[in-house]
Amino acid sequence: MEIKKVGVVGCGLMGSGIAEVSARAGYGVVVREVNEDLLQKGLARIQRSLSTAAAKGKIAPDEAAQAWERIHGTLNLADFSGCDLVVEAAVENMALKKALFAELDGILSPHAILASNTSSLCVTEMASVTRRGDQVLGIHFFNPVPVMPLIEFVRTILTSDETMAAARQFGASLGKTMVTAKDTPGFIVNRLLIPYLLDAVRIFDEGLATREDIDTAIKLGLNHPMGPLTLLDFVGLDTTLFIADAMFEEYKDPRYAAPPLLRRMVLAGQVGRKCGKGFYDYH
Ligand code: 3HC
Repeated sequence: MEIKKVGVVGCGLMGSGIAEVSARAGYGVVVREVNEDLLQKGLARIQRSLSTAAAKGKIAPDEAAQAWERIHGTLNLADFSGCDLVVEAAVENMALKKALFAELDGILSPHAILASNTSSLCVTEMASVTRRGDQVLGIHFFNPVPVMPLIEFVRTILTSDETMAAARQFGASLGKTMVTAKDTPGFIVNRLLIPYLLDAVRIFDEGLATREDIDTAIKLGLNHPMGPLTLLDFVGLDTTLFIADAMFEEYKDPRYAAPPLLRRMVLAGQVGRKCGKGFYDYH
C-alpha cells in the first residue's frame, strides 16, 4: 500500500509538527482543527518553522515553499476522504479519540490506515470502534517533531503486518528512526521517562537540591540536553500528569503515582513553558 496523502487531526504543537515533516517529505497533507482561530495559529506555527528551517539552511527556500503549498488546512473531517494515512494528534481524551476514530472509519476509503499519536492511551480501545482494527496503530512522535529523530510505533494485537510495513515506509520517508512497542501504557519512552520525571519532582519537593542543581546534575553528569525539571516545563506539567495518571490507572504501580506537588502545580495553572511558569519562570 502506497501512502500519498496524509491527514493530521489537530494542529497543535504535535499536529503541526507532524503536518510539517510529512509535507517536507513530499506528501500532500490535510490538517484539521476544531475552529478557525486554532487552525490559523497552527498553520502560522508551521509557516514559522519552515521559514526558520530555510533561514538556517536546513532546507532550500523553494523546498520550504513547496512543503507549505502541500499543506491544506480544514475544519471539516470529510476532507480526509482521499487520505491514505490519518494521524490523530488531538487532545488526550479517550472519548474524543473514539468519536474521531468512529467518524473517520466512515469517511476514509477501505485501504486507509488510521493512527494515533497518543502518548499513553490504549490504541486497541481506539481500534475497537472501527471496522479496520488491522489498519490501526500508534505512531508516537516526539516534541519538537522536526528535530527529534524518533518514531515509536505501537502495534496492537489486531495490527496487520501490511499496516506495519506501510507505517515503516512512511516513517523512513520522514527520515526518522523507528522502534516498535506493544500497546501498553507509556510504550517504551514514557514507560522510562515518566517515573524519572516524577522522581525529579519528588527529590525537589523533599529539598534534596535546588531546581537548578537537579537540572545541572543531569545535564552535565549524564549529558542530557535538558535536566528533568526543564524537560517537565518543556513537555508540560499537565501533559506529564495526564500520562502518569493513565499509567498509574493501568499498572497500579507507585512508580507512576503523581507526586502531590505536580498535581498542585497543575491545579494552580503552573504547567510550564506554554503558560510562562512551571518550575522556572519564562516571563
Ligand atoms: N522546531 C524546529 N526546530 C527546533 C525547535 C522546534 N520547535 N526547537 C529547536 N529546534 C532546533 C533549533 O533550530 C536548533 O537547530 P540547529 O542546531 O540546527 O541550529 C536545534 O533544534 C537546537 O535548538 P536550540 O539551539 O535552540 O536549543 P537546544 O540546543 O537547547 O535544543 C531541543 C533544543 C532540541 C529542544 C533540546 O533541548 C532537546 O533535545 N531537548 C529534549 C527534548 C525532548 O526530550 N523531547 C522529548 C519530550 S517527550 C515527548 O515528546 C513524548 C511525549 O509523549 C511526552
